[in-house]
Amino acid sequence: MTPAIITKDLTKKFGDFTAVNGINFEAARGEIFGFLGPNGSGKTTTIRMMLGLLPPTAGEIQALGISVKGNQAELQQRVGYMSQRFSLYNDLTVQQNLQFYGAAYGLNKVDLKNRIQDALAMAGLEGRENAKTKDLSGGWRQRLALSTAILHRPELIFLDEPTAGVDPISRRAFWDLLYQLVADGVTVFVTTHYMDEAEHCHDLAFIQRGNIIARGSPARIKETMMDGQVLEISTSDAIKTVKVLRAAQKAGKIPLKEVELYGSLVHVVAPNIEKKINDIQAILKKAEIRTEQMAVIEASLEDVFIASMK
Ligand SMILES: Nc1ncnc2c1ncn2[C@@H]1O[C@H](COP(=O)(O)OP(=O)(O)OP(=O)(O)O)[C@@H](O)[C@H]1O
Ligand SMILES: [Mg+2]
Repeated sequence: MTPAIITKDLTKKFGDFTAVNGINFEAARGEIFGFLGPNGSGKTTTIRMMLGLLPPTAGEIQALGISVKGNQAELQQRVGYMSQRFSLYNDLTVQQNLQFYGAAYGLNKVDLKNRIQDALAMAGLEGRENAKTKDLSGGWRQRLALSTAILHRPELIFLDEPTAGVDPISRRAFWDLLYQLVADGVTVFVTTHYMDEAEHCHDLAFIQRGNIIARGSPARIKETMMDGQVLEISTSDAIKTVKVLRAAQKAGKIPLKEVELYGSLVHVVAPNIEKKINDIQAILKKAEIRTEQMAVIEASLEDVFIASMK
């Protein structure tokens, strides 16, 4: 089977500004493809082009084996979309939103009734059919938005930051739904800022200023993109630790690639990090920072993301 998505030199310019700069990638069918990038890097623009909502300035896109250009009507039936500001009608109830979207997809009455039942069950929204959408919490609204986007049983679904601003438990529940879809053979293309979610994708692309700077499974990206190892340090003062180590790095006292605050810990990245531990300890001691623990750990995607986004 052809991949779910193929882009060839896909480009979008707004005037002189290049938002997406000739990107090439493929997304395999039946997988979760994560599209990661900082604000303004071109994620939504790429999705809108893949949906046929925005014409590319140059390049081509195939979705589900056919060209997006010229096949929009067919693809609308086969593709789903949950936009970044998911467009639910707040004054309608859960049931009414589902009915509205079902009708928009042209589902007949019997199909629609069954699909709405399935959607309510899948999203765990049973019993909330008559709740006003505006009274739902963020997590429930997000599940409802997903339900409306898959009423027509798409083979491929685009989710643009579906979990932004939602609590961790709801995010987890939402991802369980995505796995359920994938188990049914659906391809999921999802943008996210959450690195723990990125770890759960089968395949990833990092985009920065319209360019893809890393591609592959989470494990492969960690292997290939990280120049060095991560030393995790716990000290009496994490913020001061970052300041002191960055100053030492700047002054050329120690060759470090990254020094980042990581919650209450500090992550230091450098090639051959084991050989630098003594020097780091000495620098911290001199600054009267007490080191509580140091360990070389496996790089997380967040480490890789921060390191590669510079
Ligand atoms: N219609 C437009 N006209 C001009 N510039 C635009 C337009 N749409 C997007 N841009 C610009 O293109 C760049 C990419 O925007 P895009 O919305 O694709 O980013 P994003 O990665 O989705 O960001 P975010 O994480 O904030 O959603 C941004 O600099 C944005 O300002
Ligand atoms: Mg966006």
